[in-house]
Amino acid sequence: MTDALVQRVAGWLVDAQSVVVSTGAGMSAESGVETFRDRDGLWSKFDPSELATVEAFERDPRKVWAWYRARRQQLTTVKPHAGHRVLARWAEMLIDYTLVTQNVDGLHERAGARQVCELHGRLDLVRCAGCRHEEVTLADLGPDPHCDACGARRRPGVVWFGEMLPAEALETAMAAADRCDVLLVIGTSGVVYPAAALVEHARARGAKIIEINPNETEHSPLADARFPSSSRDTLVALDEAWRARRAAG
Ligand code: OAD
Repeated sequence: MTDALVQRVAGWLVDAQSVVVSTGAGMSAESGVETFRDRDGLWSKFDPSELATVEAFERDPRKVWAWYRARRQQLTTVKPHAGHRVLARWAEMLIDYTLVTQNVDGLHERAGARQVCELHGRLDLVRCAGCRHEEVTLADLGPDPHCDACGARRRPGVVWFGEMLPAEALETAMAAADRCDVLLVIGTSGVVYPAAALVEHARARGAKIIEINPNETEHSPLADARFPSSSRDTLVALDEAWRARRAAG
């Protein structure tokens, strides 16, 4: 990460009226949450078609719940890092700031962010597969939870492959990408749609695209600036530079 690049991007942020930040699993890697497609990522050890589809849940609900139960348990041991806190504080820097995430760990909110567009749901959300009643809890619900109200099985409140994304979060995110001057895309491989389309929308609109990711991704060819580094340190450096430039007028 060169200082010249940090300064150049800080200049774009100072000039921007509207900024979107879109995060993926790499945002939380330094908090100890596993990513999906890195060499040791979750999808290198587990088959998503057996764990992250409605069909898998219908076939073997106990197996699917056991996997999410372990991930829910892990969330009780992890904490947001300084990069999450930077992204929460950026809401004070701009009137038009939108934080979008594919992450289901809730760490942006725990770092103080409000109104996060959570495109893939939340691990701490549990939904009845029958009456759709929802509860936010990380309590251990046992090996095969059922709904108190209707008796149907309960499932994790995450979006599985083939399912629709939450309409309001998706609309808000797309509208923000269509009007932003700067979009930062952080810690995502950029292969899962429609989340990945945010970058294409912003780019088509003429926004500057900034990528923070140690590895090249599908988004890299579209980036005006690339930080091949970790989300935490890069965001802390960008935050300092943006604030210093703003203070200097
Ligand atoms: P991936 O696992 O596909 O990509 C994670 C990205 O984070 C990779 O490009 C890594 O290079 C990068 N990375 C790793 N450590 C990093 C760090 N410290 N700082 C910055 N970047 C880092 O995760 P996503 O793109 O988020 O969907 O995956 C998208 C969706 O696929 C997930 O939301 C999930 C999964 O299937 C559902 O569960 C519906």
